[in-house]
Amino acid sequence: MKREQWGSRTGFILAAVGSAVGLGNIWRFPYMAYENGGGAFFIPYLFAMLTAGIPFMILEFTLGHKYRSGAPKTLRALNNKFEWLGWFQVMISAIIAFYYVVVIAWAISYVYFAFNQTWGQDSNAFFFGEFLALGDDSTPSNLGNLQWHLLLPLCLAWAATYFATYRGVKGGIEKVNKVLMPLLFAMVLLLIGRIVFLPGALDGINWLLEPDFSKIWDLKVWSAAYGQIFFTLSVGFAIMLSYASYLPEKSDINNNAFMTVLMNCGFSILAGIMIFGALGYMANVQDKALTDVVSSGVGLAFVTLPTAINLLPAPGVMGPLFFLALMFAGISSHISIAEAVTTGLMDKLGWSRPKTATVFCSVGLLVSMTFITQGGLLLLDLVDYFINNIALLGSCLLELLLVGWLCRLQDFRAHANRISEFTIGGWWAICIRFVSIGMLVVILFNNIMTAFKENYGGYSNNEVTFIGWGMLTLMLVLAIVINLSSKQENKI
Ligand code: PHE
Ligand code: NA
Repeated sequence: MKREQWGSRTGFILAAVGSAVGLGNIWRFPYMAYENGGGAFFIPYLFAMLTAGIPFMILEFTLGHKYRSGAPKTLRALNNKFEWLGWFQVMISAIIAFYYVVVIAWAISYVYFAFNQTWGQDSNAFFFGEFLALGDDSTPSNLGNLQWHLLLPLCLAWAATYFATYRGVKGGIEKVNKVLMPLLFAMVLLLIGRIVFLPGALDGINWLLEPDFSKIWDLKVWSAAYGQIFFTLSVGFAIMLSYASYLPEKSDINNNAFMTVLMNCGFSILAGIMIFGALGYMANVQDKALTDVVSSGVGLAFVTLPTAINLLPAPGVMGPLFFLALMFAGISSHISIAEAVTTGLMDKLGWSRPKTATVFCSVGLLVSMTFITQGGLLLLDLVDYFINNIALLGSCLLELLLVGWLCRLQDFRAHANRISEFTIGGWWAICIRFVSIGMLVVILFNNIMTAFKENYGGYSNNEVTFIGWGMLTLMLVLAIVINLSSKQENKI
């Protein structure tokens, strides 16, 4: 049977941008830029984008296009001792899919709450207490009652992903992204258009952009920039590779990669302006310093911004708009994470798409219910820490080592150049073999040491060992077992 294909080039790019633009662009990038030198952060950030982001994106598009299969099969084709890495990547995606969806479920609830600011005056107590029912005795392993009110939004979020992955590349994923992406950009522009005229908003944006050049001599800032680039572009864990495996024969790889990366990073800057504009306004109204109101992650989206929304003119319009944007950014990323698993399983096990999507999404729904219990947030937090800081970067590093040092890298460059309008030079190989790998080694080593030295988030020793390190070990063992059994199968 002929492999499915994207219906159009725009469709592919929108889907790739949909994957890249996610919660991370909205709640991670702005804070990271602010913390690491503001305007001066753009120097390491753009440097990381050029030397790691774009080369890695070109590589993943090339691998997908050349081998036309998901991560396990592609990595096996590169080197038959490395199929396990493909499965490891598929597992990273599967685990992210299980908890990322929960945040989308929160966003769905908050779209509804935002119409009349159900969160009231104390958005902190509302989020952790009323909404998530986090108890005093909750820990990542002490999970209590299922929060039934989260089940419907959770099912809705999985339904969107199920629809897209079931219908397939052209009839599902592409269709959804063609609607969501233009809407997302339009909504963010609309929000910015209103926010910048509020008193204090420009001060907030200035705070974000004001360069502190002393920071650019700090290695930490550089590793933050590189870490953010790998994370934000969804490269190195089966996602972009799977999307690219559905590219038609004639595709402009280099150009597509540039556009995807630039749109993602452009969106991050827009999100930064939106968030810091809102924070600046809030600081102004509450007569506080900006440093007292900035935050990132879950707290920014579900605690700080709801308070800011209370203070906005027309909160019943701006609020839903913001949470819809968060939801759209999340859904389009979640679809790509689920598709990485679906493609990997389909190509390796020979299952049909409907069967694979049905199995994965139903198992996924069940597993993700663990995260909507009392204490589910803490489990999510701990799992996310280990996946992002160690598994994901480790997988990026191993993939680059394999491709850069155990394969003929120049063949991939030749492949990309043959079908692309503009060609890439020798700098590409240098970026992959030295710059990206070197930075990854530094960051990963540092992350592993930190994770060893201190118990993340003050969670207990046992929890960090069993849930964090245990999960990583289990993933590795499982990946190797699958690899070994698939080898036997081939011998028969
Ligand atoms: N790249 C997207 C983001 O910035 C989504 C994503 C990140 C998906 C990490 C999976 C893991 O949010
Ligand atoms: Na991103």
